[in-house]
Amino acid sequence: HNVSPSQKFDIVSRTPPYQKLLGRLEEVRRVLGSTRQLTLAEKILYSHLANPEESLLSNTNNGKDIRGKANLKLKPDRVAMQDASAQMALLQFMSCGLPNTAVPASIHCDHMIVGEKGADTDLPNSIAGNKEVFDFLESAAKKYGIEFWPPGAGIIHQSVLENYSAPGLMMLGTDSHTPNAGGLGAIAIGVGGADAVDALVDAPWELKAPKVLGVRLEGELSGWASPKDVILKLAGELTVRGGTGFIIEYFGPGVQTLSCTGMATICNMGAEVGATTSLFPFSPAHVPYLEATHRGQIAQEASKIANSPMQRNLLRADSEAEYDKVITINLSTLEPHINGPFTPDLSTPLSKFKSVVEEKDWPRTFGAGLIGSCTNSSYQDMTRSEEIVKQAEAAGLKPKAEFFITPGSEQIRATLDRDNTLSTFTSAGGTVLANACGPCIGQWKRNDGPAKGEANAIFTSYNRNFPGRNDGNRGTMNFLASPELITAMSYSGSTTFNPMTDSISTPSGEAFKFSPPRGSDLPSAGFADGNPEFFATPGVPDPSVEVVVDPNSTRLELLDPFPAFPNSELQSLRVLYKVKGQCTTDTISAAGPWLKYKGHLTNISENTLIGAVNAETDEVNVAYDVDGKKSGIPELAKRWKEKGQEWLVVAEHNYGEGSAREHAALQPRFLGGRIILCKSFARIHETNLKKQGVVPLTFADEADYDLLDSCDEVATRGLLDVLKSGGKGEVELVVKKDGSEKVIKTKHTLSEDQCGFVLAGSALNLLARSAAE
Ligand code: F3S
Repeated sequence: HNVSPSQKFDIVSRTPPYQKLLGRLEEVRRVLGSTRQLTLAEKILYSHLANPEESLLSNTNNGKDIRGKANLKLKPDRVAMQDASAQMALLQFMSCGLPNTAVPASIHCDHMIVGEKGADTDLPNSIAGNKEVFDFLESAAKKYGIEFWPPGAGIIHQSVLENYSAPGLMMLGTDSHTPNAGGLGAIAIGVGGADAVDALVDAPWELKAPKVLGVRLEGELSGWASPKDVILKLAGELTVRGGTGFIIEYFGPGVQTLSCTGMATICNMGAEVGATTSLFPFSPAHVPYLEATHRGQIAQEASKIANSPMQRNLLRADSEAEYDKVITINLSTLEPHINGPFTPDLSTPLSKFKSVVEEKDWPRTFGAGLIGSCTNSSYQDMTRSEEIVKQAEAAGLKPKAEFFITPGSEQIRATLDRDNTLSTFTSAGGTVLANACGPCIGQWKRNDGPAKGEANAIFTSYNRNFPGRNDGNRGTMNFLASPELITAMSYSGSTTFNPMTDSISTPSGEAFKFSPPRGSDLPSAGFADGNPEFFATPGVPDPSVEVVVDPNSTRLELLDPFPAFPNSELQSLRVLYKVKGQCTTDTISAAGPWLKYKGHLTNISENTLIGAVNAETDEVNVAYDVDGKKSGIPELAKRWKEKGQEWLVVAEHNYGEGSAREHAALQPRFLGGRIILCKSFARIHETNLKKQGVVPLTFADEADYDLLDSCDEVATRGLLDVLKSGGKGEVELVVKKDGSEKVIKTKHTLSEDQCGFVLAGSALNLLARSAAE
């Protein structure tokens, strides 16, 4: 009973609640004054506020200074989760005891599938290797009414674009490239699992109001230039940090010339410049795309809103809207770009690439060209690449580099199969991998690849190119480019080949030069449905389903609720570890091989703080017990947990920077951590700690960092009052050492809601309690 894309699926659950959003926008206008000009990003975000007045007027100089200041409490319309991050999100959701999710949600099994020989052998192998995780995800999806896309169905962002994204929608996704959905006019933000749970249980999700970076597009793409080149160029200008704290909003006449999927590619890689998300306004290209993906009704409703005579509508920016910063890109003069290696912002125009390769002494040949992935596997991308292959075939050429194709979804794969695009690729020697992340996330068994550490090059149409990401080899330089450019370059196998100017000699000795690629935005015969095994299960909850978690599993473990805060101060805590210097979420909960334990809190906690430097000894992951006994940090934490010895960590600046990884808050809490005391916090991690019931405190006087040592005994003074009064007052820490007592003054940022989390033991406990009432 799975849902075929062209059958009648529940269109209502896939349509943004336009009437409600329009009403909210009116309310926002009333709160901010009717003359206030708003960007598109602001309109969509603010019309998803739980309470516009509260969010927009507090802490913002009465609404004048919202961006960068206001704390938005948002109610997203939908949630999407990929298989790796969905595990902890679901385990947390389950502990709330609710019968179903409060908003529509979907799970996409894509990250755990290896690319090696091709879809037919790779997919069954990967399913067998991850069976218990997939079974768990599927059973939880069925029980709670989440649409489940099985392994092989597609990559989360492509499936979301084809099925769920829509103009004006706001969604959260547990993956960094969730902003891909902005190509279809949605605000889609990548978050950690605990944030997704907020939306799943209908609790408001908090976001510091982003600033808005406007990118004005002029002109029209032609020849070899593609949407990918827009973002490759922009990444070069902004760098990997340039978008932090911003939403990137595209506008200007050039927008109308782009395909819907091209806009999605551009939004996808906004993640590479650190942007909160990226989005496009409603555009004519949205209509045929929505219609081709069986959502003509949404196209009609959105068109009505976007074309309403009222200038100031929900799906476009106001004409005088102000951006915090504007960058202009002329599509007519845009050149193809190649970005990398090792960082997505090292951007080189194609015409200069040869000289840069020579100057930097990068490899002159490359071993593999990989096209597709969530970023670039649209019909347009693939037909443009196909046309390049056909030109080369007609000239009697074969690719010199290995050539891999990753379709983003079963729908696109089946369509390309029907239209003979895939057979064009395979008869040229290409390998079609499963509809999954595969080599993009390191799930690439690269046979006959270069030796570990040996410098070598590959070209991909993916979005990230950090060392080791694709084949686990830190010597592999991944150069990012458009699929059509990679396809052409694969025929020369040379990194210095420029298909716009250079020729390849054919077997008959003639000089062959490519013509610029041509393709189609959308299939003229419509999209094919593909294999019914890959259709999603419907989002209808079934309470009779039992969620499968084997008690002996090493990869999944049900969560026990954390105990509530005692009705007293915290007495006799001890300092587990005093951290020196940087302490990122990776330091607190390492990734790599630990990722397979994301659904098993006990097992993944074995990595807690293993990257942290001991401030007293400069050792990494070496802790000392009260009796001087030396061990790793997780071992000491476990020993103390067994004895009921609760603890705190002392650290320096920007504790928890890096990512929204919730494990970095869950694990210390699980092992008995009650307080993190540091000089400053990374904001998202500080919020995550409060959600898990850990109290984040900062030194009132940073110099007091020097007063504390590991194993010191610490008691709180005033904390219970702060918690009970909803955040009023201060907390002092009384440190007992060598028979004397010292008092350390601290600061906290606990809001009333967050005090409730800590008192209940965690935000989830509180949610579970209100669900039970
Ligand atoms: Fe998957 Fe790579 Fe996209 S990991 S979601 S294909 S960025």
